[in-house]
Amino acid sequence: VNHLLGIKNLQEKDIQLIFETADHFKEVINRPIKKVPSLRDITIANLFFENSTRTKLSFELAEKRLSADVINFSAGQSSVKKGETLIDTVNNILSMKVDMVVMRHPNPGASVFLSKHVTANIINAGDGAHEHPTQALLDSYSIRERLGDVAGKNVVIVGDILHSRVALSNIYALKLQGANVMVCGPKTLLPKHIDKLGVKVETNLLKALQWCDVANMLRVQNERMEISYFPSTREYTQQFGVNKTLLESLDKEITIMHPGPINRGVEITSDVADSKQAIILDQVQNGVAIRMAVIYLLASKIKQ
Ligand code: CP
Repeated sequence: VNHLLGIKNLQEKDIQLIFETADHFKEVINRPIKKVPSLRDITIANLFFENSTRTKLSFELAEKRLSADVINFSAGQSSVKKGETLIDTVNNILSMKVDMVVMRHPNPGASVFLSKHVTANIINAGDGAHEHPTQALLDSYSIRERLGDVAGKNVVIVGDILHSRVALSNIYALKLQGANVMVCGPKTLLPKHIDKLGVKVETNLLKALQWCDVANMLRVQNERMEISYFPSTREYTQQFGVNKTLLESLDKEITIMHPGPINRGVEITSDVADSKQAIILDQVQNGVAIRMAVIYLLASKIKQ
């Protein structure tokens, strides 16, 4: 059984194969007829135990563009509310002859757990603060599209690193491809083991921006905090928010990324988010081609 549970266990050649396949699908979805018949014989269940806009709709669109049959499940409207377990829920869905499961779940490790207890191909669409592999793939793909290559680029991930699955998956993906990676944020929002991940650490945003070619701005994930980690939102914005004045003080134009959802005026001002320096909507657009590539490659292995 083949899965995409995280970036950690991938190799550089896997990422390049996904990107080459995504290049093809990006061309396909820009045609007047955006669909290919490749996965007419595959059924995919999208299981969302946590809210999502981009990832949920992007996976569904990717599956439909590949002509797969698609069923969608939101935990809040399901029998999970009556006490049904994750494994029972998934096994009931699989008994309807489903081949592949895309799952978002609030618990770190939920996708790995599921992969050990059910016989289906699993794609992790974000598991708590652990990994969000397709986000990291679409992020690197977007850097490659804007700057020509990921190798050798200086990429800083700014903000709430501690609670971010996007940060962890990006660190793994960027390092595999030979980028130089820095994290920047308040000490209270950096993981204790950050030195083991082989990244530079900076707590001064201006210094981080002066160093980088690309800044990936993250949202502070208040929903994952049991206690308040930082004195105030205003203080966070003053020290770690990116704005036009700060960017104009640099002697170069850097690329600005954000995985969404944005908290405008907190980690990024609107004049930056909506500027040509920002590739935020390109990231979202590339997400469909990347997810088509991942699903197509995993489904090819199902069919063997
Ligand atoms: N980037 C991202 O995962 O967004 P959603 O939570 O809206 O899916």
